[in-house]
Amino acid sequence: PPPPDQATMRVALPPELMARRCPFDPPQALAREHEKAPVGRVKLDTGEEIWLVTGLDEARAVLSDPRFSADRFNRRNALVTVPEEMREKLFDARARAGQFVAMDPPEHTRLRKLVIGQFTLRRMRALTPRITEIVDAHLDAMAAAGTSAELVSAFALPVPSLVICELLGVPYEARTDFQRRTSTLFRMDAPLEEVLRVRDEMRQFMHELVAARRARPDDGLISGLIHGDHAGELTDDELVGIANLLLAAGHETTANMIGLGVFALLEHPEQLELLRRDPEVAGHAVEELLRYLSIVHLGPFRTATEDVRVGDEPIPAGGTVMISTPQVNRDPAHWDDPAGLDLTRVRNPHLSFGHGIHQCLGQQLARAEMAVALPALVRRFPHLRLDCRPEEVPLRDNMFVYGVHALPVAWDAPEDA
Ligand code: HEM
Repeated sequence: PPPPDQATMRVALPPELMARRCPFDPPQALAREHEKAPVGRVKLDTGEEIWLVTGLDEARAVLSDPRFSADRFNRRNALVTVPEEMREKLFDARARAGQFVAMDPPEHTRLRKLVIGQFTLRRMRALTPRITEIVDAHLDAMAAAGTSAELVSAFALPVPSLVICELLGVPYEARTDFQRRTSTLFRMDAPLEEVLRVRDEMRQFMHELVAARRARPDDGLISGLIHGDHAGELTDDELVGIANLLLAAGHETTANMIGLGVFALLEHPEQLELLRRDPEVAGHAVEELLRYLSIVHLGPFRTATEDVRVGDEPIPAGGTVMISTPQVNRDPAHWDDPAGLDLTRVRNPHLSFGHGIHQCLGQQLARAEMAVALPALVRRFPHLRLDCRPEEVPLRDNMFVYGVHALPVAWDAPEDA
C-alpha cells in the first residue's frame, strides 16, 4: 500500500459511469444501465459489485425502507475505499459525533428533531428579506466593479455562505477557512492526511465558537441548540458535529446550484429569458434546475442490513446501494422529455433533496436562496453572457457535489452610465 501520507480516498466506480459528454446531462452509460433495469448490478474496479438504482420508484423504495442503513461509520460502503490502516482514524467516534446524515434511528431521529426545532417560524420568516438584501448587495458590488466577473467567487459562493453564517451565528470572517476546508472534504480523491488535518481544524474552530456562544449567546441557531428548550441534551462534540454539518451542507450545495444553474441558463437563452421576464416562473424554475442539474451526482448511498428485494433485484445483507440522482431525475416513466430543461414544468417529483427520513433539512432555505438569487441576477444584467467558451468552464467532476469551479461572465455597461 502507498505510505499513509500519500494515501487518498478513492471512488471505485467504473470511469464510464462518471464520464459526461455534456456538462448538464448524466453520463450516457447511466441511461444504458437504466434501459437494462431500474436496479442493476455494477462491477467496481475493486472486483466487488454494488447495486445501482436509476428508477424513481425504486429509489424512493430504498430511501424509505428501514432495512437500508445510512450509517457510513459502522457499515462498509464498497464504493468509497480507503486504506485499511486509515479506517480507524477516519471513522472514529469523534468524527461521527453529530453527523446525523450518516446515522440511523433512533440516534438520527433524536438529533434531527433537535435541529428542526431550531428552524423556527421566526428564523424562517426573516430569511427571504435578508436573502434579498444579501443578493442585492452582491449584485451592486459586481455592477460597481465593471462589466465582467468570476461568478462563483463574486456571487454563487458568498451569498449562501453569508446566509448560513448569519443563520448559525458563525462569523463571516471565517469564510475563507471554512470554504477551503469544505472543498477538501468534498474532493473524491482527497489525500487522507489532509482530510484528517482539515477535520481537526474544523472541530477546533467550532469548539471555540461553541464555547463562546455558551458564554455569550447570540440570535443564531448554534446558541439556540445550546441554550434553547433542549439545553444540555447535546454534548459539545455533538454540537460541534451538527454545526459543522450545517455549515458545510449549507453553503457548498446551494453555491453549486447557483453557479451551475447560471451556466445552464446561459446555454439555454430562451429559458433564461423566461425567468427574466416572468416572476411567476421562479418557483418552478428552481425545481426544474434542481432536477435537471442534480448536483448530488453520486448517491445517496445506503447499505442493506438484511436481504431485501428492490424491484426484481435481490440485494443481499451488506450490499452497497448507490442511487444515481441524475439518472433517477430523468426517469422517462415520470417526466416527459426528461432530457429537456423546461422552467415551466409543473409536476416535478425530483429526488434532488433525497427522500425519506434523511430528506434535506435545508431544502426550504436552499429554495429560498435560489428563488431570490437567480431571477435577481438575470434581471440586473439583462445581457449577461459567458465570458469564455462553454468547453472552457471547469467542471466539478472530481467533487462529491457537482457544479462549476468557476464561471467567467460579462455584461454590457448600463446605457446611462
Ligand atoms: C440532506 C441535497 C442544501 C442541510 C440532504 C440530502 C440531499 C441533500 C440529497 C439527503 C442525503 C441522504 O439521504 O443521504 C441538498 C441540495 C441542496 C442542499 C441539492 C442545495 C441545493 C442544504 C442546505 C442545508 C442542508 C442549505 C443547511 C441548512 C442538510 C442536512 C441534511 C441534508 C443537515 C441531513 C438530513 C438528515 O440526515 O436527516 N441534502 N441539500 N442542505 N441536507 Fe441538504
